[in-house]
Amino acid sequence: QADEVEVAVFSVPSYACQRRTSLDNRNTVLTDALSLLAENAELSDQDGRGVAFRRAAAVMKSLPEPVTSMTQLRGLPCLGEHSLRVIRDVLENGASREVESMKQSKQYKALKVLTGVFGVGAKTAARWIREGIHTLHQLRNSGHTLNRAQQAGLEHYDDLNQQVSKAEAEAIQQIVEEVVASVLPGAKVTLTGGFRRGKLMGHDVDFLITHPEEGKEVGLMSKVVSWLESQGFLLYQKTTRNSYLVSDDSPALPPSNMDRFERCLSIFKLAQDQPHRAKQLGALPLDTAEHRRGDSGLQTDQDSCSQRIQTPGGQEDTKPWRAVRVDLVVSPISQFAFAVLGWTGSKLFERELRRWAGQEKAMSLSSHALYDNKKRKYLQASSEEEIFAHLDLEFIPPSERNA
Ligand code: CTP
Ligand code: MN
Ligand code: MN
Ligand code: MN
Repeated sequence: QADEVEVAVFSVPSYACQRRTSLDNRNTVLTDALSLLAENAELSDQDGRGVAFRRAAAVMKSLPEPVTSMTQLRGLPCLGEHSLRVIRDVLENGASREVESMKQSKQYKALKVLTGVFGVGAKTAARWIREGIHTLHQLRNSGHTLNRAQQAGLEHYDDLNQQVSKAEAEAIQQIVEEVVASVLPGAKVTLTGGFRRGKLMGHDVDFLITHPEEGKEVGLMSKVVSWLESQGFLLYQKTTRNSYLVSDDSPALPPSNMDRFERCLSIFKLAQDQPHRAKQLGALPLDTAEHRRGDSGLQTDQDSCSQRIQTPGGQEDTKPWRAVRVDLVVSPISQFAFAVLGWTGSKLFERELRRWAGQEKAMSLSSHALYDNKKRKYLQASSEEEIFAHLDLEFIPPSERNA
């Protein structure tokens, strides 16, 4: 009967890369609970459970309306016993007892605080917790020697744990574009990561840089980083030369010259009070006195920036800049489509694309290339659309990859 129960029954394909997942999540209470369990599993070195909860959360994110009853979930993929129990708890009681008690647990709180330090992963945090270190104060007084990344992470802890806004991402984009244009005319900067998916906030800002002429991008990263450093824009940076070879995926193939990916994990020093300052700066000739003036809002003395603002509760309120995590990646144009796809995310969407490629298509997908294991050859692509087509997937635009 038509007036019986008006609950929609959803039909959802099982791979996240087969679905559209916009930012308009109609089930945030459920997905927050499942995401917290996923996060806790990841922080506890239980990646398998983490992925299971991420997949369950992603299914709930893709639903077109709020779930009100368990009967609506019949036939949905990726919902294991544990996830269903959590969903039931939330639907019946407004919250999951398991999630609430986990959030209050000493272990979870300590893992959150310690892995909130840039450069500290789950394993390091777990080791410190076993030694009785639960807070930043205890970490600072522990006598542990921190590596350069962790030192910067501790120093800029508050800034780096504050979300980055779209406006801040755009200000940084202007700076990066100016720098790239000045060191290699014609090179192209693409905003990737969450901001490319339309997010209004992020934990960092991600950029992919390429040049339309293959090979021109070689050496670009070190020039960009030197320029940024000389202008005092970087509080921290670590550049890694990528050792990727296309032949790594398939030893039978001749080696290729695709070992050029470079990435730079950095912490930018962004003028805070004047978001439009970046524009003015970029328009100026390089290395003028103007850049180096203390009152510009962009301190350029690199030694001063590292020590001066260290004390908690001290000068932070008045400092005219803030630390922002920025990832820079350089890709040759021949790999650009794969790199854009790989760096746009979400992480689960990427993971599901690779799983789809491997399990359903006998192909290997990376941020560099797509290899067809049956035809024993690489499949070329110059756009994301072509990669989806190679994979027999309907094209999903970035704004719908928020799985
Ligand atoms: N990525 C990657 N290799 C890494 C780190 C990240 O390929 N070592 C990719 C991820 O798969 C993701 C993209 O880079 O597709 C962006 O990752 P990240 O910045 O961590 O996440 P965002 O989706 O941008 O979300 P956030 O707002 O939290 O930054
Ligand atoms: Mn379980
Ligand atoms: Mn990001
Ligand atoms: Mn990133």
